[in-house]
Amino acid sequence: MIEIRNLHKTFNGNLRVLRGVDLRIETGETIAIIGQSGCGKSVLLKHVIGLLSPDEGEVLVDGKQVHTLREKELYALRGRFGFLFQSAALFDSMTVMENVALGLVENHSLAEDEIRSIVAEKLAVVGLPGIEQKKPSELSGGMRKRVGLARALATDPDYLLYDEPTTGLDPVMSNQIDSLIAEITRKLNATSIVVTHDMFSVYNIVHRVAMMHEGRIYFTGTPREFQETADPVVRDFIERFGNGNRETVKG
Ligand SMILES: Nc1ncnc2c1ncn2[C@@H]1O[C@H](COP(=O)(O)OP(=O)(O)OP(=O)(O)O)[C@@H](O)[C@H]1O
Ligand SMILES: [Mg+2]
Repeated sequence: MIEIRNLHKTFNGNLRVLRGVDLRIETGETIAIIGQSGCGKSVLLKHVIGLLSPDEGEVLVDGKQVHTLREKELYALRGRFGFLFQSAALFDSMTVMENVALGLVENHSLAEDEIRSIVAEKLAVVGLPGIEQKKPSELSGGMRKRVGLARALATDPDYLLYDEPTTGLDPVMSNQIDSLIAEITRKLNATSIVVTHDMFSVYNIVHRVAMMHEGRIYFTGTPREFQETADPVVRDFIERFGNGNRETVKG
């Protein structure tokens, strides 16, 4: 379980991004975090894996306070997370094989052929078997995302964090990524946080929606409760970010 309690983060002395975020994510749950661009979604995710430290408040993962972990414990904790970053963040100088194997090489003492077979298996899961020797520059945007997803899955994580997994993809590719996320969540019984602007994903793949607004979690509820609420701030957001019809939402 992930518990975020009264989290505060200010940058440069006056950019108050997180102003008391409270959110509890149950084991096995898939939750979407939504909110305007710049409201602090990526900053929040970075606190969950200890890439940023709070000014006040805490994140607890299975009861352990993340920002006070020592380096060794922090690495162990990160080993239980798979993350798909906003930009896919593949290393262009490395092959697909090396990119997907990164977490395996870092955290485990696996033999080379074991690593190779895990990479092959995860590439098959994301529908890209046999591309181990390609370089990221040879791949389309959607393929890069899927390679990023294979890397996130490589260590069989308990927790998956997705930062805008479908942004910049066409509707067909977005549907494929959504289906993969839904399937992975089911199969691994992983706990997942999906940060997204894609309301189609929100309505179709998550159990619960958390909307950030003015530095806090403003609304939480099921996708249906979100869609049906009369709250003016939520309604305004839905109006601007689409009704979840993928054809009319720009990717
Ligand atoms: N390391 C940092 N140092 C200073 N400011 C930062 C840092 N990281 C983020 N910010 C600022 O914090 C605010 C929130 O950023 P964040 O990346 O979390 O937004 P977001 O909700 O993920 O937006 P988007 O939907 O566009 O990805 C922005 O104003 C950003 O410029
Ligand atoms: Mg972001």
